[in-house]
Amino acid sequence: MQIALTGATGMVGSQVARLLAPRHDLRCLTRSPERAAHLRLPGLMVEADLGDHAALTRALAGAESVLAVTFDPLSPVHDERLLTAARQAGVRHVVKLSALAVTDPQAQDVITQWQRECEERVRASGMSWTLLRPRAFMSNSLAWAGTVRQEGVVRTLHGSSVNSCVDPADVARAAARALTHPQCAGRAYALTGPAPVSARRQTEELAAVLGRPLRHEELTEAQALDAWSSRFPRPLAQALLDSARRQAQGAKGEVREGVREATGREPGTFRAWARRHVSSFASGPAAGGSAAETSA
Ligand SMILES: NC(=O)c1ccc[n+]([C@@H]2O[C@H](COP(=O)([O-])OP(=O)(O)OC[C@H]3O[C@@H](n4cnc5c(N)ncnc54)[C@H](OP(=O)(O)O)[C@@H]3O)[C@@H](O)[C@H]2O)c1
Repeated sequence: MQIALTGATGMVGSQVARLLAPRHDLRCLTRSPERAAHLRLPGLMVEADLGDHAALTRALAGAESVLAVTFDPLSPVHDERLLTAARQAGVRHVVKLSALAVTDPQAQDVITQWQRECEERVRASGMSWTLLRPRAFMSNSLAWAGTVRQEGVVRTLHGSSVNSCVDPADVARAAARALTHPQCAGRAYALTGPAPVSARRQTEELAAVLGRPLRHEELTEAQALDAWSSRFPRPLAQALLDSARRQAQGAKGEVREGVREATGREPGTFRAWARRHVSSFASGPAAGGSAAETSA
């Protein structure tokens, strides 16, 4: 089967590529095949920016299904261009990476509103679809790697509040299945981990895996907003703050069945994720994080 992946060099897309490569003909979209070469992704690397309709149409030609991963809540045109190009290229099925916050009527921040609008476009696209709605990725904790290595500290806002965060490997498994199994069409999967976990608890888990003490330090809302504003445009920083407040009110702790339904496997724990990523917290350069990191 011919399958095209947007976000192919990212956290979820790269794992989807590795899962599908043995049995399928893959096109991995990236803005820079040269820069992406070090990832040694399977399949054909194809240059395409989500803002470039002509490049997208070329990249998607012949694909039967597409993984739709878009990134910029302030550029909704990316989703529109991707779907238009997919339809014109004859794509039959779209698997959209969305976020679980879309199901919470209290979530009115710009990131969640953008994901809701993206979902509406997918539903109205005329192609068949599957919606993947993950809670926060466990990998968001890679943003703590620098301070863990240098100071033995994790700093977050609302550190005792819980999130039923999900291993991105489970999200990738769900995506791989949805891209290749017609019975996933028309379904929305709520993807969470097996238990709600707080940043304080994650700090303890990381300490256990690293075998050295770590401590959690609470940020004030002003400190957290300053930190986000130094990395993201102000509306996105504000959305992350709104999202953290909803988490503090208990909106993100529920465990859902989507990983089991979509993959037939039990969802992975934070401890298991931390064991696989221990080297990021023990040595090497600090990892970044995306604007959408805590929006789910
Ligand atoms: N992090 C979370 O907790 C969380 C939770 C729920 C939902 N989500 C959703 O997951 C999605 C992000 O997935 P991810 O974490 O796997 O992605 P990611 O690791 O942030 O991937 C970044 C990718 O963006 C690509 N990219 C950025 N701008 C682009 C553009 N203009 N055109 C083409 N490609 C572009 C980059 O590819 P190149 O540099 O190779 O071009 C790169 O592969 C978002 O939609 C987010 O809302 C995230």
